[in-house]
Amino acid sequence: MIEHRPIGIFDSGIGGLTVARAINDLLPNESILYFGDTEHLPYGEKSPELIRRYSSRIAEHLVSSGCKAIVVACNSASSNALDAVVHAAGPDVPVIDMVTPVVRSISTEAGCEHVGLIGTRATISSGLYRDTMKQLNPKTKLVSRATPLLASAIEEGFFNDSIPLAVLEAYFSDPSFDNIDCMILGCTHYPLVKENVQDLLPKGVKVIDSPQLVAQELKRLLTESAQINPPIHKFQVSDLTENFKFSAHHFFGSDLNLEEVSFR
Ligand code: DGL
Repeated sequence: MIEHRPIGIFDSGIGGLTVARAINDLLPNESILYFGDTEHLPYGEKSPELIRRYSSRIAEHLVSSGCKAIVVACNSASSNALDAVVHAAGPDVPVIDMVTPVVRSISTEAGCEHVGLIGTRATISSGLYRDTMKQLNPKTKLVSRATPLLASAIEEGFFNDSIPLAVLEAYFSDPSFDNIDCMILGCTHYPLVKENVQDLLPKGVKVIDSPQLVAQELKRLLTESAQINPPIHKFQVSDLTENFKFSAHHFFGSDLNLEEVSFR
């Protein structure tokens, strides 16, 4: 059965598009309803109270628009307003945040013992990454820094070019990042300057792909609750032979929509 209700995704602006894209790549049969709160960006400079107010209003809007799940594709909202979003979403609409899937993945991944984190002021000062990391993997060492200029430059359309590079250079002159082995881009705008980040970090530092991890978490949740959409491809043949069946299942798996259409 096709479940037509969309996945609700929100951010203050364009950052959440990095998450929407990862979701579309991994779950191409799902519809997306994206909400960018461009009237109120940047969230990273707002108080927790305001971020909560904006986020819960958006969650209510997404639920009343019929979304089957909500992805908080904004670290500032995930860090400061998750309980408000969960409350607004109600018991039947699962909510996925940006922090938990990323920290969970790092705690099981080898070579992520000394972790760097950059994000907005609102995200870093909430302390949520630190607290979640302490809980899931107390041995991991975390160094974090707020990089407030970065999201605004990206929102203005400067992706992987000299402007974000100069901003990052200034922030990375801080020696606390010298010994990290992996880096969390703790703002959904930042994957748009991932190349700049990678260029400035010592070789071998792994930059975590948060949008992909969040998309995987959404897939797991939808699969568990049997709300994931099956592929809508149809394969038709004029003579349904065992040979065709075998090969089609070999290439596309067993739940293939295969039928015989005869013109005779
Ligand atoms: N993309 C948002 C985040 O992940 C924040 C950008 C902003 O509005 O400050 O935190």
